[in-house]
Amino acid sequence: MLTSVVADQVGLADDVSVARTDDKCVVVFRHGRVAFGARDMALGAVLVALEAGSVTRADLEEAALASGGDAVPVLARLDWLLAKLRGALVHSVAVDGREVARVVPLTGDGGYRPAPPPPGPVALSRLAFLRRRGADAVLESGRAAYRVELCAPEAVAVAAALTRVTDVSSLAVALKLDVHLVAHLVAAFTAADMTDAGDAGTDQWNFHELLFHARSRLGRHDEPFGATFPFLGERDPLPAEYPAREGPAVALPRVALDEVARRDPPLVMVQEARRSVRHYGPDPLTLDQLGEFLYRVGRVRAVYGPAVGMPYEALDRPYPTGGASGDIEIYVTAHRVAGLDRAAYHYDAVAHRLVRVCADTVLLDALLRGAAVSTGGTPTPDVLLTFTSRFGRMTWKYDGMAYAATLKHAGVLYQTCYLVATAMRLAPCGLGSGDAQLSARVLGLDWARESSVGEFQLGSMPPPSPGGAEAAGVGRPHWRAHNNPDWAARASAALEREAGQVGRSDGYSGE
Ligand SMILES: Cc1cc2nc3c(=O)[nH]c(=O)nc-3n(C[C@H](O)[C@H](O)[C@H](O)COP(=O)(O)O)c2cc1C
Repeated sequence: MLTSVVADQVGLADDVSVARTDDKCVVVFRHGRVAFGARDMALGAVLVALEAGSVTRADLEEAALASGGDAVPVLARLDWLLAKLRGALVHSVAVDGREVARVVPLTGDGGYRPAPPPPGPVALSRLAFLRRRGADAVLESGRAAYRVELCAPEAVAVAAALTRVTDVSSLAVALKLDVHLVAHLVAAFTAADMTDAGDAGTDQWNFHELLFHARSRLGRHDEPFGATFPFLGERDPLPAEYPAREGPAVALPRVALDEVARRDPPLVMVQEARRSVRHYGPDPLTLDQLGEFLYRVGRVRAVYGPAVGMPYEALDRPYPTGGASGDIEIYVTAHRVAGLDRAAYHYDAVAHRLVRVCADTVLLDALLRGAAVSTGGTPTPDVLLTFTSRFGRMTWKYDGMAYAATLKHAGVLYQTCYLVATAMRLAPCGLGSGDAQLSARVLGLDWARESSVGEFQLGSMPPPSPGGAEAAGVGRPHWRAHNNPDWAARASAALEREAGQVGRSDGYSGE
């Protein structure tokens, strides 16, 4: 019976181009560029071999040595070229020349070197996963600088079996595969960082977060990325103006810019006095305050486009968003607002009104309880704001970074809420852990199309502490002063003095 030959092979990645002139040979690839003299016969021969397709190390040495010259310097040159080309080389495991698995580099830095497989127990990394990518089965990981394409059922079987701790010979027996093939595959998976051999250093990373980090920025993947407009010409972008929700509507009071400018404290005082406040005053938030807050934070000021380079309608709001996508919607769960029924509302940011979407007290209580859990059980805020994203606004334009950008939008909105609330002497607090499923149910949303990406508490400000405002963080364990923590106390004191001395319609008079 003929035995199969299992081999490690190497070839050029799909995106590599080679240009030859009389005096130079230049290889250009995603991660770099390598040039050598056209009269360097050994390297020229190696490149020809690599271009021809997957070859073994022995084939490359043979090609290099066939050009003449001393073996030692020629092989040193071969190693130099392979090291320079590391971001351009696809390594594979082949059986009788048939590729079973291919290791594709995702960065220019990897030093892929298949070594003998670990002699003892081995398992997939907890960060690795198997999925369909186009027509291929692939093994990937948030940690790995490679993608392993599983080109044959044997490779898929070995990858799947490694979800349990095992060893090479047991795997070969269990899967009825040639032990050499299993050994080469396990060695390749290990060298590509897909097994638990290299998990150290990433032990604090959660599976999905490391993957999200790796994939939502450039540098560690070769997927489409950025403003690629993947659905342009295929379907219309979502409209800028949110389609009005059905339900009883409450018009919100508006404010005049001059009036707000007259009574608002200067930015530096607002920024320095800003802090998270999780207790509320004896009086409820008023509809006037809620109207002013939403108008200043989240209203739609204008819609514009489509235009050249921007084939969709953009939204102008008081805070910025990538591509002016304005994907974030604000929902208001009113618990204690004078002049407003206890209910959940969509903030119609065009008409500046609230549209009731839920009045079921069981659901409202559940949503508000979630906020209390986030703050460790502080009192129910007058208002819980839920920020949702209309994901399609982002994914129509952006590839790979749409959700990361949305979370940044949520952060921008948090700070805008903090600053406006502080300027208005309201009690603000951002929340970090909302329930996207529950809020989708309460707000009547289709989770995959629009759901919550952030929450924010708001209420009337409690009376100032009798001792007056303290420097930021004073009294916290091991507190150490750096860079004027007194500014926070001085700004808070100034704002409190103002709030105590003058009516809200008077101008800000300063410290
Ligand atoms: C994105 C974000 C998430 C937060 N999540 C929570 C939270 O879930 N619960 C909470 O009590 N405070 C939360 N906070 C408030 C922080 O605890 C607070 O900003 C921090 O302790 C600093 O205090 P300061 O805001 O008074 O300066 C959050 C703040 C931000 C910006």
